[in-house]
Amino acid sequence: MLVLLPFAFAFAGAVCAAPPRAHKLVESVAPPRDWFNLGPAPADHVIPLRIALPQSDFDTLERHLYEISDPDHERYGAHLSKEEVEALVAPHPDSLRAVDAWLAEHGIPESACTRSPAKDWVSVNVPVSLAETMLDTTFHVWKHAVDEDQVVRTTSYSLPEHMHAHIELVQPTTFFSHMKNHRTTFRFSDSQSDAPSVPGETITVTNSDGTKILVDASCNTTITITCLKQLYNAVGYKPSATNGNEIALTGYLEQFANVEDLQLFYADQVPDALNSSFKVTLINGGQNNQTASEAGDEADLDVQFAFGLTFPTPGTFFSTGGSPPFIPDVDTPTDSNEPYTEWLDFVLAQHKVPQTISTSYGDDEQTVPISFAKRVCAGFAQLGARGTSLMFSSGDGGVGDGDPDPATQTCQTNDGRNVTKFIPGFPASCPFVTAVGGTINIPEVAVDFSGGGFSNYFSRPSYQDQAVTEFFATKLPKGTYAGLFNPNGRAIPDVSAESDKFRVFIGGQAFHIGGTSASSPTFAGFVSLLNDVRISHGRPSLGFLNPFLYSKGFAGLNDITVGNAPGCGTPGFNATSGWDPVTGLGTPNFAKLKDLVLSF
Ligand SMILES: *[C@@H]1O[C@H](CO)[C@@H](O)[C@H](O)[C@H]1NC(C)=O
Ligand SMILES: *[C@@H]1O[C@H](CO)[C@@H](O)[C@H](O)[C@H]1NC(C)=O
Ligand SMILES: *[C@@H]1O[C@H](CO)[C@@H](O)[C@H](O)[C@H]1NC(C)=O
Ligand SMILES: *[C@@H]1O[C@H](CO)[C@@H](O)[C@H](O)[C@H]1NC(C)=O
Ligand SMILES: *[C@@H]1O[C@H](CO)[C@@H](O)[C@H](O)[C@H]1NC(C)=O
Repeated sequence: MLVLLPFAFAFAGAVCAAPPRAHKLVESVAPPRDWFNLGPAPADHVIPLRIALPQSDFDTLERHLYEISDPDHERYGAHLSKEEVEALVAPHPDSLRAVDAWLAEHGIPESACTRSPAKDWVSVNVPVSLAETMLDTTFHVWKHAVDEDQVVRTTSYSLPEHMHAHIELVQPTTFFSHMKNHRTTFRFSDSQSDAPSVPGETITVTNSDGTKILVDASCNTTITITCLKQLYNAVGYKPSATNGNEIALTGYLEQFANVEDLQLFYADQVPDALNSSFKVTLINGGQNNQTASEAGDEADLDVQFAFGLTFPTPGTFFSTGGSPPFIPDVDTPTDSNEPYTEWLDFVLAQHKVPQTISTSYGDDEQTVPISFAKRVCAGFAQLGARGTSLMFSSGDGGVGDGDPDPATQTCQTNDGRNVTKFIPGFPASCPFVTAVGGTINIPEVAVDFSGGGFSNYFSRPSYQDQAVTEFFATKLPKGTYAGLFNPNGRAIPDVSAESDKFRVFIGGQAFHIGGTSASSPTFAGFVSLLNDVRISHGRPSLGFLNPFLYSKGFAGLNDITVGNAPGCGTPGFNATSGWDPVTGLGTPNFAKLKDLVLSF
């Protein structure tokens, strides 16, 4: 992101020269729950405005994406190049011209603008005073009730009427991001009772297809790499270090992973991987302070399990900055807080993108303005079209807040009406990503915090029609939770994996961690091994997974049929046979999936 402070002051005077134009409302939101208005924003505070121009041909991109991700289609695996994707999302030249003219009217020269590779986003740092004129609005400083974060935002903004056809959205305006990592449980490991591997003692697990596998008995109290390889039927599989297959993780919220902790983890669980490491890519001021005594617990968990499962596959950790607290008297653009777009801009600009990427962060869907959610989701579609499989944790609150008690539940709509509704998570609700829920114990049952439900923003994609229709017709008693969820919405999650009692090293010590934060990098680890299988056989990577998972892949997943995930004052949905909104289609059976992914 470009920082041009002197310039910000230089064009402040040009505002008056702009001809008056009639503004028309673009978006208006109710003041979001838990954020409090502290008063007008300082006029000279600099806002890093990001302006989205309409993508000219996203419908064609979406059609390509579905064709090349459908194992029964002749174009399966014909991934698009960076240039092909960019051509489909590039704005119409009229939009580029109109936006340039509008910026120029406000005294903003081309040299002050940064553009995404397809030119569908333009970013420019402007003082609050100018942003208020451009968007005919007033910015305020808002403070979050719980963690006291401060941001500069508005609840509505407008654009000149003639610009509505050329600008889809402008942020940061109405998006009060409160991104969280999906890490629910955290406790010190008791080295006696939690010691991994008591040789000899095993549990026999009968998979949903009747086959039996053996898992160390200790895995019921402590999940290690060995446990996951046993449970998910991948013992002995060794991926290539050199066939071009890669796996990556994203870190937000100033999270970074500690390399020494990774070595302790490897000594404990993956001795062959000792001394190996991973690549760190810093985006938009992302952090990576290896001297700090405590690394991020989320980052350490993700790195240790995803890279531990896939060693020696080359791994990358993307550390994206962009959400440090706003300090009202410092006029630097520090509170952009739209980290998904910062990351997408960066990764879409690369010629080679890792084939498998996991993210363990999310927001409540209703706190992300729908225009922004759709645009970010379209960015994930672009990565899918390029051949990348994206996993996102489904969230740790069951159908919402994880609270079974009607008296204390907090699932109210954010629209000022405070109606009780289930709260799905985003990006898990984006139909172009694979949402990963959670299980617990050996044999596996649904974990009670597994995020699931139905999007209020995205309609159900056709690849889910059969599975979800069957759930409504035969699994969910008629009328259950009527009005609390959108039965026509994209259903969450798609799949699941173990998500509790993971033995992780943080700051030199062993901990037990859980959350769908653990299940997403785990599922991604097995997807990366499947990509390795395909690439080693000269086939393209799996790319966007869901059409495969719902049409063929489910036969290589263990159906989880026990448990439920409460929330919003209800017991939530049940895990059932077939797809369900707690564990999706189920957890991986690598040996079966390995054959399946070579069958097309
Ligand atoms: C695993 O632990 C759970 C929870 O404590 C328990 O219900 C289950 O019986 C255990 N499984 C085995 C095979 O002992
Ligand atoms: C890791 O490095 C140490 C110190 O250089 C060496 O003694 C050890 O053999 C190495 N381990 C592996 C698995 O490469
Ligand atoms: C890294 O962390 C250490 C210890 O907290 C601190 O002293 C140092 O200034 C930090 N370095 C950077 C570059 O932030
Ligand atoms: C909705 O809830 C908020 C926060 O608790 C409260 O300030 C507001 O008055 C409520 N609105 C209605 C219509 O009940
Ligand atoms: C979950 O299963 C229980 C026990 O079979 C049943 O009573 C309940 O209605 C089910 N709930 C839902 C939401 O399907």
